[in-house]
Amino acid sequence: MKSTITAVRARQVWDSRGRPTVEADVTLAGGAMGRALAPAGASRGAHEAIDLRDGGPRFGGMGVDRAVAAVNDEIARLLIGRDVRDQAGLDEAMAAADATPNLARFGANATVAVSLAALHAAAAAEGAPLWAWLAQGRKARIPLPEIQIFGGGAHAGRRTDVQDFMIMTPRAATVREAFEITAEVFRAAGQLMADTGRLAGAADEGGWWPVFDSNEQALGDLTAAIERAGYRPGEDVFISLDVAANELDRGDGRYRLGLDGSEFSTDEMVERVAAWVRRYPILSIEDPVSQDDLAGFAAATAAYGERVQLIGDDILVTNADRVRRAAEANAGNAVLVKVNQAGTVTRAKAALDAAKALNWGAIVSARSGETEDVSIAHLATGWDAGQIKVGSFARSERMAKWNELLRIEEAMGADAVFAGVSAFAPSVTAGLK
Ligand code: PGA
Ligand code: ZN
Repeated sequence: MKSTITAVRARQVWDSRGRPTVEADVTLAGGAMGRALAPAGASRGAHEAIDLRDGGPRFGGMGVDRAVAAVNDEIARLLIGRDVRDQAGLDEAMAAADATPNLARFGANATVAVSLAALHAAAAAEGAPLWAWLAQGRKARIPLPEIQIFGGGAHAGRRTDVQDFMIMTPRAATVREAFEITAEVFRAAGQLMADTGRLAGAADEGGWWPVFDSNEQALGDLTAAIERAGYRPGEDVFISLDVAANELDRGDGRYRLGLDGSEFSTDEMVERVAAWVRRYPILSIEDPVSQDDLAGFAAATAAYGERVQLIGDDILVTNADRVRRAAEANAGNAVLVKVNQAGTVTRAKAALDAAKALNWGAIVSARSGETEDVSIAHLATGWDAGQIKVGSFARSERMAKWNELLRIEEAMGADAVFAGVSAFAPSVTAGLK
């Protein structure tokens, strides 16, 4: 059969931080091939599937020889002869053979590369673009992007405590228009920083490296950049934050905002972010509390979750059970979907489906360590996630994904529907209309 897997091959390649990562090829009897590369996080949640590294002195311990060997040896033997269209079967076979709950033996960097490569091969065998293969004729909106303007936290020497200062353009008509607005705001923000003597290079995801005196000053400057670009903050362009509060958690139930020189209890942390929500045009907030603080996440949701999208990243780690548990606790209204946090396409899709069943928002996301792989542009569209997060509007590992969305929008032609204001949980969308 043309969709039978005949070869699975991995190699070490390099990511956007110059660190080793895993690339996998899956080849089929009919000659079709799929290829995918594993991304890597820096502000990782403790409950993620394991990113397997060799340790030792080479490459700062970041080697992937063991993960590459797992693919070329055990995983290849496991998958050769199987039908590539049985994605769930392939993914479960890898998880079962790994035999740890978090893919610690093969490494999620091994399994995610193979899982995505198999998905690409299945689409290639049908001669279909990946987004169309995933959609199978169902609704597939072009996702609303959230795009980083300033990068901080673990991605920029902790120069700000908040990790991502991003913008969203839900009232754009197309993703093409969303990018044109973003390009103007990104440029205006750079000019503003140059004018104020605060331009100091690029953060890990390509956003302006922020030299600010406080987290709030960054919010003020982002609002000013939106205006300088000729747009109305809170009308045309909104702010989205990833607080990545895990990185601020001192481990004793208190949060430290180094730039602001303050320490907070969970309640005070929730109130600090609530004050930002009152003062700035903030539409979306990710990880306002740390990864095990479900009560804090619920308190944040009670405080501003009616009007604001509240995304769980480190607290949900692309895990369907954790999504359902959070919903039961009235905590959050959106999930960040990172395929490598789950370790396989099937598990990531399960987390997305759990969110959709709850009427939550879903954001398919890149990692801070990325590559030229553009799979997530197709997943976000083909799965009809509604939103996508890739990093900034600079550097080709980011732009490759944005540019792929332009190609997808063009290929859909008159059928293309941009998620826009419909991208959110119902109460957030209602507030925008
Ligand atoms: P990471 O950060 O890829 O470094 O974990 C991205 C995020 O927190 O969303
Ligand atoms: Zn995050």
